[in-house]
Amino acid sequence: MFRAPVAPRVRKRLRPAEAGVSRCDEVKFEDVRLYLVERKMGRSRRSFLTQLARSKGFIVEDILSDAVTHVVSEDSRASSLWAWLKGCELGNLPSMHVLDISWFTDSMREGRPVAVETRYLIQDTKFPTTAVASAAVTVSQYACQRQTTTENNNKIFTDALEVLAEYYEFKEIEGPCLAFRRATSVLKSLPFVVQCLRDLRDLPCLGEHTKAIMEEILEYGRSFEVEQTLSDERYQTLKLFTSVFGVGPKTADKWYRQGLRSFSDVLTEPGIHLNRMQQTGFLHYGDISRAVSKAEARALGSIIDEAVRAITPDAIIALTGGFRRGKEFGHDVDFLVTTPELGRERSLLPDVIDELKKKGFLLYCDYHASTFDMARLPSFSFEAMDHFAKCFLILRLEEGKVEGGLNSSEKDSRGWRAVRVDLVSPPLDRYAYALLGWTGSRMFERDLRRFARLERRMLLDNHGLYDKTKKEFLAATTEKDIFAHLGLEYIEPWQRNA
Ligand code: CTP
Ligand code: MN
Ligand code: MN
Repeated sequence: MFRAPVAPRVRKRLRPAEAGVSRCDEVKFEDVRLYLVERKMGRSRRSFLTQLARSKGFIVEDILSDAVTHVVSEDSRASSLWAWLKGCELGNLPSMHVLDISWFTDSMREGRPVAVETRYLIQDTKFPTTAVASAAVTVSQYACQRQTTTENNNKIFTDALEVLAEYYEFKEIEGPCLAFRRATSVLKSLPFVVQCLRDLRDLPCLGEHTKAIMEEILEYGRSFEVEQTLSDERYQTLKLFTSVFGVGPKTADKWYRQGLRSFSDVLTEPGIHLNRMQQTGFLHYGDISRAVSKAEARALGSIIDEAVRAITPDAIIALTGGFRRGKEFGHDVDFLVTTPELGRERSLLPDVIDELKKKGFLLYCDYHASTFDMARLPSFSFEAMDHFAKCFLILRLEEGKVEGGLNSSEKDSRGWRAVRVDLVSPPLDRYAYALLGWTGSRMFERDLRRFARLERRMLLDNHGLYDKTKKEFLAATTEKDIFAHLGLEYIEPWQRNA
C-alpha cells in the first residue's frame, strides 16, 4: 500500500544560545544538529566532545528532540541503543541518522560533517527494511557495485518506471528506455522506502523525468503519465503480442500497424505467417505465460540432472538465471550443463535432447550448435548471444513430480503443464564466465561489462575477460576470480537482482 508522504520537517529556528552554542563559536553547519549519547561515553568525555564539535562550528544539542539530525553513540550495540531511542517518543526518529562515534571523529578530523556512509550507521537490526533514508550514503552508478536482493522496498516506484521503460522499448527509443531501467535498478537496491524527494538527493541515475514521476507518486499515490501509458492502445497491444514466446517488439509492431489488436485477429488474418517458435508460443500460451514456481524449478532440475547423467555420469550441472538469484518465480528455468572433458560438451546437448525426447518430456526444442572459437575472441558486444551450444526448450512437467503440485490454474485438470527451460553448454575452462553471464540479472550483466570497459580497460562477456592493457585473457575457475580480476567486491548471486 502507498504510504502517505512525510511532511517536510518543520524545524524551529533556535538562536545560537538556545541551541547550546556559546557566543564565540560560529555555526558553520546549519543543517546538522548533533546529539551525543551519554551512555558508555560518560559525562566528562561527552562534555569534552561537545566543546570540541562546537569549536569547529557544529551545533550540538544538549537534549534529544526532533530537532536533532545526527545521533552519535559510542555504544554500537544496535539493539540496546535502538530500544532506548524508541523509548524517547521522537516523531522524527525515522529520518535521523544514528551513527557510530567513528562518523564523529572523522568529521572532527575533516572539520566538516562527512558523508553518512553505510559503515557509520548503527542500524536497527529488527527492522532492516525501514532503515533510515540516508541521502548521503554513497550508491554506485554501477549495478555490480550494489547489493540488490529480491526484496524491493520501492515497488510502487519501480513498477511505474518499468512501464515507461517498456513503452520506450516498444517505440525503439533506446535513451529513455535505458534511463528508466537504470533508475529502477538503483531504487531496487535501496535498503529504505523512499518517502520524500530529499531521499533521492545523492542517488545516481535519477534524471529529471524520473524524479517528476516519483514526485507525482509521492504526492498523489500514482502517476498520470504512467496511467495514460497503461491505457495506450499501442502499448497494450504490443504488451499482449510480445507476451507470446517467439514474438519480439518488431513483429508485434508490424502486426499492430496491420490493424491487428488481439490473438484472434492474428490467428485469423490470412496474410500472417507464423514461424515454428510462434506457433508453439500460441499453442502453449496459457502455460508459458504463467510463472514457474521454485518447486517446479526444483522438479525440472531433477529431470535435467537425470537426463544429463544418463549421457555422461561425470557431468557438471548448475542452476543459473533468476532462480539462482533466489527468485520465487521465473518465466523459465536456466541450467548450465558441461563435462570435464574439453570438447565433449559440443555434442552433449543433442544427446541430452534425445534423452528428454525418449522419456516423453520434450514438447519443443530450438537447438543452436556451438560456434565458439577462442581464437576469434574478443568479439564483445552488449546483449549479443554468446557462442556456446545452447537450446531453448519447452518441457512437459507432470503434476506428480512437483512437491506441493503445479502452479496451474484451479480449473486445469490435465495433471501436467508446459514449462520453458534453457540449457547452455560452455567448455569447462569457460565455465565461470558462462555462469556469471547466465546468472543475470540483465542490468547486473550490463553494468559489469560497462564497469570493466570504462573503469578497468577490460572487455567482459560470457566467454571471458580480456585485459586491453596487458593484451591478454584472464583465466578464472570461479566467479570470485572474475570479481577479483575486476577489482570488485564479490556480490553473491542473490544480491544480483539489479
Ligand atoms: N542470457 C544470455 N544470453 C541469452 C539469454 C540469456 O547471456 N541468449 C543471460 C542474460 O544475461 C540473463 C540470464 O542469461 O541475465 C538469464 O536470462 P533469462 O532467463 O531471460 O532471465 P532471468 O534473469 O532468468 O529471469 P526470469 O526469471 O524471467 O527467467
Ligand atoms: Mn530465466
Ligand atoms: Mn532463460
